[in-house]
Amino acid sequence: MGLEDRRGATDDVYQPAEDSYLLADAAVERLSETATDADAKPLVLEVGTGSGYVANRIDEETDANVVAADLNPHAVRQARDEGLEAVRADLVAPFADDALDAVVFNPPYLPTDPDNEWDDWMERALSGGEDGRAVIDPFLADVGRVLAPDGVVYLLVSSLTGVDAVVEEAGEYGFSAVALADESFPFETLTVLALYPARIP
Ligand SMILES: C[S@@+](CC[C@H](N)C(=O)[O-])C[C@H]1O[C@@H](n2cnc3c(N)ncnc32)[C@H](O)[C@@H]1O
Repeated sequence: MGLEDRRGATDDVYQPAEDSYLLADAAVERLSETATDADAKPLVLEVGTGSGYVANRIDEETDANVVAADLNPHAVRQARDEGLEAVRADLVAPFADDALDAVVFNPPYLPTDPDNEWDDWMERALSGGEDGRAVIDPFLADVGRVLAPDGVVYLLVSSLTGVDAVVEEAGEYGFSAVALADESFPFETLTVLALYPARIP
C-alpha cells in the first residue's frame, strides 16, 4: 500500500486520521486532569498542527491556552481558519526557553526508502526518512529547551518507527517516557508517549 493511501491525505494538508484521534484523546485527558486557575492556564504548543484538529480539541476541551505551529504554510492557514492562533515554525525553533507547559506532536514517521521520496507538503507530513525518525530526532534534541521545568511532551509514535528506539533516544536527551495509550491496526501499533524532563535535584 502506498504512503498516500495509508493516512488521511488531501493535496496540501494532512487531515485528521487515527493517529490524530489517539493523540488528541490522550492529550485532552491528561491536560484536563491538570488543575488550573484563571491566572495560571497551561500554555500548550502543538507542533505540526496540520488541519489544527488536535490543537482545536485541546482548545475546546481543556483550560489550556493553545498555540498551533507548522512548517507548512497551507496548514498554518487552515489552522487559522479554524480560529486557532497559528504560526509558521520549524519544530520548536522560534519558541522561548522554559516557556511551555506541554508540547504535543504527531510527527511524520513513516520509514521511506530514499528512492521513493517525493517532494511536496504531504511528503513532509508523512515521511520520517529512512528510519522514520528524521523529524523526531531534531525534535527530541530541542524540545527540552522550550519546556517549563514541570512540562511534558505528548508524542505519537508508531511501531513502524520503533517505539523502543524513540524511548531510548528520548532518554539520551534526559526524558523519562511513559506510554499513555496505544491502538493496533493491521500494519502498525500507534502509541502516545508522555516524555518528562529529568528533574535536577
Ligand atoms: C502526521 S502530520 C500531523 C498533522 C496533525 N497534527 C494531525 O495529527 O492530524 C505531521 C505534520 O507535521 C508537519 N511538519 C513536518 N515537519 C515539520 C517541521 N520540521 N516543523 C513543523 N512541522 C512539521 C507537517 O507539515 C504535518 O502537518
